[in-house]
Amino acid sequence: MAIIALSLGISLGSCKRQEASDLTRESLIPLPVSVAATGEYFTISEKTDIYFKGESEELKQVAQQLADRLRPSTGFEIEIIQASSEPKRGSIYFLLTGDGTNPADESYELTISKKFMKISAVNPSGAFRAVQTIRQLLPPEIELSTVGEGPWMVPTGIINDNPDYSYRGMMLDVARHFFSVEDVKRVIDLISYYKLNVLHLHLTDDQGWRIEIKSWPNLTAHGGSTEVGGGEGGFFTQEQYSDIVKYAQQRHIIIVPEIDMPGHTNAALASYPELNCDGKARELYTGINVGFSSLCVRKDITYKFVDDVIRELSALTPGPYFHIGGDESHSTKPEDYVFFIEKTQEIVNKYGKTVLGWDEIATTKLSEGSVAQYWAKAPNALKAVEQGAKVLFSPAVKTYLDMQYDPSTKLGLHWAAYIEIDDAYDWDPATLVEGIGKEFILGVEAPLWTETITHIDELEYMVFPRLAGIAEIGWTPPLKRDWVDYRERLAKHGERLKAMGVDFYQSDRIPWPETVQK
Ligand code: ACM
Repeated sequence: MAIIALSLGISLGSCKRQEASDLTRESLIPLPVSVAATGEYFTISEKTDIYFKGESEELKQVAQQLADRLRPSTGFEIEIIQASSEPKRGSIYFLLTGDGTNPADESYELTISKKFMKISAVNPSGAFRAVQTIRQLLPPEIELSTVGEGPWMVPTGIINDNPDYSYRGMMLDVARHFFSVEDVKRVIDLISYYKLNVLHLHLTDDQGWRIEIKSWPNLTAHGGSTEVGGGEGGFFTQEQYSDIVKYAQQRHIIIVPEIDMPGHTNAALASYPELNCDGKARELYTGINVGFSSLCVRKDITYKFVDDVIRELSALTPGPYFHIGGDESHSTKPEDYVFFIEKTQEIVNKYGKTVLGWDEIATTKLSEGSVAQYWAKAPNALKAVEQGAKVLFSPAVKTYLDMQYDPSTKLGLHWAAYIEIDDAYDWDPATLVEGIGKEFILGVEAPLWTETITHIDELEYMVFPRLAGIAEIGWTPPLKRDWVDYRERLAKHGERLKAMGVDFYQSDRIPWPETVQK
């Protein structure tokens, strides 16, 4: 693979040299808001250094991250230098333009001339997003860890860019099958490349409890000891979870932890008999049915449990959200469900977090700021909007990454739909549900449920390239998005997925170049 990519780079590079460049024709995903071309090239060479202006440690870290990406494949030394004057010719230059009053602003301006490449951003997160654009403007071999020939040329021009939605996420279910810290870090690396800013971790379900709670140790000791199919399961210690949170933070991604309640709780009910109404512990469960478990909603001990879990996990989570699940509680009486969700929202708010929950929570009174995640029932999403709440869009028929591509897909399920690349890409959250316009939408998120997914290679095959399309929905304004254009960009982008070693689905709806095809 590396050798094929390398030879392609040489031929591409040498033919580029003879032509005027056109920045507007680069295959960027997600497509930037505005691109203007000036027809020349900036070249990264042995003389290139990276400058940053000011005292921001976070900006320095972004400069460092770009250098870490460029050094192994270019073989250049690339120093990081705090700028005291205008950087020298051939360098890359980061600076912040914001006054710190809008930390959520992820916009950036990337100015590329023959002499320099300049990244101006309001916040370091915008600079980090710009780095992803720069990676995609260089030859695909920039992603390899072996030294390539180059030349490392970037078309000149100006890109002005910012996201359409402030929340662009992926969800990973580590409960049905457990995934290691290393796997989660790989996911964080890959989603950051597409400018996503949220990783939602589905940490608990019937089959496993995957996060250490110090005041209830049997949740992981027993409840984390298996998974779907009867494997050994596993869990994150609090230190490991914090390590994931920090790794994500460095990539300008927040972690949203989910404790799914009051249904989907068999692992907890197996670990502590007192959480059951009859006081008897349940057996561990390794199948894939849903809707059979419920916390005992009218017992006081249940709220001691819920409070402890939310308190401990909130303290480890710097992001603003705490996801309480709330889906498919078919074994909870409707009035008990309302009682539980309303009480649990109060607990989440008490610990300073904003509630996220699956769309069913909109059948209860939502607390200030609570967000309903629309996955199944549009009437629930409308109920959230009627209450003045925002909706996060994860319609199963478009965004569920565990849905099979077509009937020949060996992994995954198809209870919601078969979802091909165009199905995942060619829709607009702001027009999908009548009555829910853009002003009510927080953003988009693509969940990967892992009933059938046991390994990182399988995960990658289901996630890519569909997630790139969802990322573009979250970032690029709908008027700029077009399936035919996207298909061409994605085809060229295949080289990059290959260079990153991603096991992606080679849909026959995409005109992959020969170098990409197996
Ligand atoms: C879900 O898919 N049960 C949220």
